[in-house]
Amino acid sequence: MAPPLELLPPEQDAMPLNRIAASPMPQTQALERPRARDVHVWELNLDQPPPGAVQLLDTSERTRAQRFVHDLHRNRYIAAHAGMRLILGRYLDHAPHALQFVIGPYGKPELSPSQQPCADVAPLRFNLSHSNDIALLAVSTDVAIGVDIEALRPGLPDAALAAGVLTATELAELEQLPAEQRTEAFFACWARKEACMKALGLGLALEPRHLHVGMATQRQWVQHQQGHAPLDLAPLPCRAGHAAALAAVGGFGRVTLHAPSELSRSLH
Ligand SMILES: CC(C)(COP(=O)(O)OP(=O)(O)OC[C@H]1O[C@@H](n2cnc3c(N)ncnc32)[C@H](O)[C@@H]1OP(=O)(O)O)[C@@H](O)C(=O)NCCC(=O)NCCS
Repeated sequence: MAPPLELLPPEQDAMPLNRIAASPMPQTQALERPRARDVHVWELNLDQPPPGAVQLLDTSERTRAQRFVHDLHRNRYIAAHAGMRLILGRYLDHAPHALQFVIGPYGKPELSPSQQPCADVAPLRFNLSHSNDIALLAVSTDVAIGVDIEALRPGLPDAALAAGVLTATELAELEQLPAEQRTEAFFACWARKEACMKALGLGLALEPRHLHVGMATQRQWVQHQQGHAPLDLAPLPCRAGHAAALAAVGGFGRVTLHAPSELSRSLH
């Protein structure tokens, strides 16, 4: 299998991320942490939860799981958080059920400092996104990252949704596209925006109409107007009918994708 490609910051190499290759799971139990600025992206199949998934969750996650009205949504939430804990636990050599998280002021979870190896080793960072039966877990060392995956919803956007989240320029670009391309273009744009908002840890506290990412899908730098650090933003390859994106504060290096089949073999 081809080795993953080295991805340089956009001004040096604008190669789209759909050129990177899936990497096989390491044979050993422990996962090697991403090197500085590299990102590992894991794709989880939420309809194939790991065995004993509920037992891996902490009290707050179980409470949250109980609040779902539909079993399908509950089970997928449990699968996402159990899968996330299993993977992070393997990087940190910690029992997955014992991992502790801290929540940022706008809701972004990070691993508790007590879970990190020691003060002079850069902390493991992560971000999770789920959409229907699929989740992406991005993992980095030290770099603040955001990942987003969106299932395309036919018929959207309507005029109100588009006007509510796009900049005026993005809106004009969208309207210039043939009608049959607009749904995919919109959700790809929305995934890029959310990846940025999540990398900054702000979520929807950042007004999406003030964050310009445009309709073009190439890797790019994004500078939010409120003076945040520049974001390195790129689309991620994902299953048909979905759009996904990765953003990293200050730039990312090599991105390695881990396929669902490799993941399920490693977790069962
Ligand atoms: C963070 C946010 C942007 C995530 O939105 P989302 O697309 O619904 O959810 P995702 O699956 O991509 O991400 C959720 C995960 O991000 C993480 N997260 C939560 N808050 C976060 C924040 N402020 N920054 C970064 N990550 C965050 C959590 O791990 C969360 O997982 P959990 O819910 O299982 O605990 C959220 O603020 C939000 O409310 N989004 C609403 C989306 C929306 O209204 N879309 C309409 C336009 S189509």
